[in-house]
Amino acid sequence: MTVLGIETSCDETAAAVVTGAGEIRANLVLSQLDEHRPYGGVVPEIAARSHLDHIDRLVEEAMREAGLGFAELDGIAATAGPGLIGGVFVGVMTAKAIALAWDKPFLAVNHLEGHALSARLSDKLDFPYLLLLVSGGHCQILAVEGVGHYRRLGGTIDDAVGEAFDKTAKLLGLGYPGGPAVEQAAASGNPAAFALPRPMQGRPGLDFSFSGLKTAVRQAAGKAGVLEGAGDDRKRADLAASFQAAVGDVLADRCAKALDLFKSEYGTAGPLVVAGGVAANRFLRARLDTVAEAAGSRLAAPPPQLCTDNAAMIAWAGVERLGLGLTDPLDFAARPRWPLESLAPEGKAGRG
Ligand code: KG4
Ligand code: ZN
Repeated sequence: MTVLGIETSCDETAAAVVTGAGEIRANLVLSQLDEHRPYGGVVPEIAARSHLDHIDRLVEEAMREAGLGFAELDGIAATAGPGLIGGVFVGVMTAKAIALAWDKPFLAVNHLEGHALSARLSDKLDFPYLLLLVSGGHCQILAVEGVGHYRRLGGTIDDAVGEAFDKTAKLLGLGYPGGPAVEQAAASGNPAAFALPRPMQGRPGLDFSFSGLKTAVRQAAGKAGVLEGAGDDRKRADLAASFQAAVGDVLADRCAKALDLFKSEYGTAGPLVVAGGVAANRFLRARLDTVAEAAGSRLAAPPPQLCTDNAAMIAWAGVERLGLGLTDPLDFAARPRWPLESLAPEGKAGRG
């Protein structure tokens, strides 16, 4: 089984070809970073236009790299939401056109499901597993019971983790995109230099909160004179490291609790999967690795290029869905919002 995947829900135009055995035959990502950088964030109209300008060529290139013609594909998958709707339209229309022209099944993939299943592509995991999904727009803990079966155990009550990284980078003048910039600055900083809060740490439940941490970073940056690129780089690195350590402590606290709950409810110790753009962060991965090990579980983290937005995870979600016969009609409408918990297919197909 071979599936073409298309991803256009944010600021990456991506096309990939993945097989049922989990072989990634092509995985191309075209970042729009330079187009959005002058605005300090993603501009939806620019994103949609850029996806439109590049997607056809990128799909062609992916097919050439995979050494395949469209006739040899078994399905065409595209991110159909959630995301910036103009971009999502571009990917969905491209996939539908190929599916129609070549009489192939179309697979409307939820972007978050792509992240959620990426560890099955990289690590060949069995269900169930515990998932910490941390990206620019999302921060959730889920029990992944099977394809389409996601049970939300907790989530952020305000900002997403990636958003906190991006805002911290902006506050400190570390540039855009924020996550990698903060990680890089933090590498040479002292994580104990600034006393920052650990929101929700030790609290009941499995929810997160990051807005208080962001406010604390702003205050600390003002006091230390390192707002928006001003002042001393050494102090800036210390504050970046202190912020990252606070995030690490909060994620560790919540995941330790979630692992306990998961074990008591599913009778197995994990594994703990971390996915989404923030999962590319090496410091956080190491922190979560320790937490999983202490709970008698293990951390499974896809390689960084499968953590940040990519089309291989969309093609793979397509492979999984196609294998269960879960194809979609050509009039399937793109969705700006599309919660993971709403995906459960009729009957018990997919629960593994
Ligand atoms: O999954 P993703 O590529 O796009 C969304 O679906 O949101 O995640 C992007 C987010 C951004 O907020 C970015 O700053 C964050 O992931 N990110 C990181 C790192 N690399 C990307 N955050 C922390 N450390 C990183 N190395
Ligand atoms: Zn994403």
